[in-house]
Amino acid sequence: MSTDLESGARPAMSATPVEAPAATPVRTPTARTVLMCKPEYFTVVYRINPWMDPALPTDTSLAVQQWQTLYDTYIGLGFDVQLIEPIDGLPDMVYAANGGFVIDNIAYGANFTYPERQPEGPAYMDWFREAGFDVRVPEEINEGEGDFLLVGDVILAGTGFRSNSNSHQELARIYGRDVITLNLVNPNFYHLDTAIAVLDAGLDGGSGSTTGEIAYLPSAFDEPSLAILRERFPDAIIVTEEDAAILGLNSYSDGYNIVIASRAKDFERQLRASGFNPIGVDLSELLLGGGGVKCCTLELRR
Ligand code: ARG
Repeated sequence: MSTDLESGARPAMSATPVEAPAATPVRTPTARTVLMCKPEYFTVVYRINPWMDPALPTDTSLAVQQWQTLYDTYIGLGFDVQLIEPIDGLPDMVYAANGGFVIDNIAYGANFTYPERQPEGPAYMDWFREAGFDVRVPEEINEGEGDFLLVGDVILAGTGFRSNSNSHQELARIYGRDVITLNLVNPNFYHLDTAIAVLDAGLDGGSGSTTGEIAYLPSAFDEPSLAILRERFPDAIIVTEEDAAILGLNSYSDGYNIVIASRAKDFERQLRASGFNPIGVDLSELLLGGGGVKCCTLELRR
């Protein structure tokens, strides 16, 4: 998309390792347990976000191939990857992050905004039940981990396009944790996980830091939300519009290794400079549905 990415302007990846500043923290990976859904029925036949264009062709076998690379990457990182059976007629089911939100063995089910995805809610809740999670059937509209991110001792919760802000209260009641509402304002970044990347989940994620660490795209938020982010995460990585525009923020971290879109070159550089190990994957086919790495990944926290 962006020609900048192809230009010679950026520094070439050389054999010389990037010198991390002396103060770079030591990063410790924690193997994760995640849920994924193979895109066997992936296609774009409706438009519920600006990325989707039913007139453009999709290649389901390429989607499966690219997804497989992500799966293999997680296995290589030592993750426990659980799978939910894809359902014919639910082409967006590959975006497992939207299937619910899981902490402390409690699975808060999803209640999708658009009718096209509504049947996914019960399908994911059935899976959670069979896997032994304590399932809470949602009363409010919410799209799971697409809009809810556990960072440190709080849950960051997005609203504006999909999850209703009432779901933030439901979430707070269920988990007894502080929920911070953030307003999304750009339709291209309609889920919170397209505008914020959790780099280090902090407390629950391994490092012991109480706030955790994130990267985000400022222009995706309104002013009050931005003020909250700046105050809470003064050292956050700010990504470029170019990297965000290929859903570069839609990434998944184990505290050290961060799986990102391979085209998000500046984000990759910034992550390396902060002591992380970015691993690029190409999910271009799934980008046609408006999703990337994180969208395909739902963390299961027992
Ligand atoms: N086509 C899907 C939708 O619009 C993409 C979901 C992306 N998921 C995410 N967690 N951001 O609902």
